[in-house]
Amino acid sequence: MIGIFDSGIGGLTVVRAIMDELPGYDIIYFGDTARTPYGTKSSNTVIEYSLQNTEFLVKQGAKMIIMACNTASSVATESLRERFNLPIYEVITPAVNRALKETKKSVIGIIGTRATINSGIYEKKIKEQHPDARVYSAACPLLVPLVEEGWLKKPETRMIVKKYLHPLKTKQIDTLILGCTHYPILKPIIQHKIGKRVHIISSSTAVAEQIKDFLSSSPDFERTLSKNGQSDFFVSDLTPQFEKTAKSVIRQPIHLNHISL
Ligand code: DGL
Repeated sequence: MIGIFDSGIGGLTVVRAIMDELPGYDIIYFGDTARTPYGTKSSNTVIEYSLQNTEFLVKQGAKMIIMACNTASSVATESLRERFNLPIYEVITPAVNRALKETKKSVIGIIGTRATINSGIYEKKIKEQHPDARVYSAACPLLVPLVEEGWLKKPETRMIVKKYLHPLKTKQIDTLILGCTHYPILKPIIQHKIGKRVHIISSSTAVAEQIKDFLSSSPDFERTLSKNGQSDFFVSDLTPQFEKTAKSVIRQPIHLNHISL
């Protein structure tokens, strides 16, 4: 089983991408809806939550973990790799690699939660590979609650997205990284507001492609993963609103199990 976690709905964009790239692989998902959002919390708290989430997934039989959360990926990757002896994947490196492949002018924008943007990890990873790249970032703390609330087409959401993207637009970025797994759900609005010439990179599809490459280059490990086309979803709080948004992201009926860690 492939174990995937996020603070809530965002990681389901990674589940969807994994289902598209690797159909048939069994997936176990945990959305920490009782403690969302992570993006406004301290690093220590996010690390603690990420360790607990991973422990739960491993106990359920996960053989590898995808941190389907940029916030957790930016602060907790090392702690998870120290604690657990199985492949731990984060979403930042694949998004950076994709962005560097796509950008023509090396002017890259990043949007994410406050914790991810304040960590400076995207900028650091881009500059490591491309020291001359110009990188501009913007924290968009209101977008996660808007997505969790299902406000996907409201005029207020459009206005807020426009306001957040304005500083990046003036820098004439040619590539924009969606550095939060909730944001692909708002991609049509984001694309419209940033302009159709800007190439949008989603950390969710980028990580799914990376996992596919990893599995095809590691056949021994790949054989340890079960493939019955089964997906199990667990959340730490269950509301009708979450259920509705979750179904629209996965684009198929799903059953959500409520558990407390
Ligand atoms: N989806 C998450 C991310 O990629 C976390 C959002 C949050 O809980 O603040 O950062």
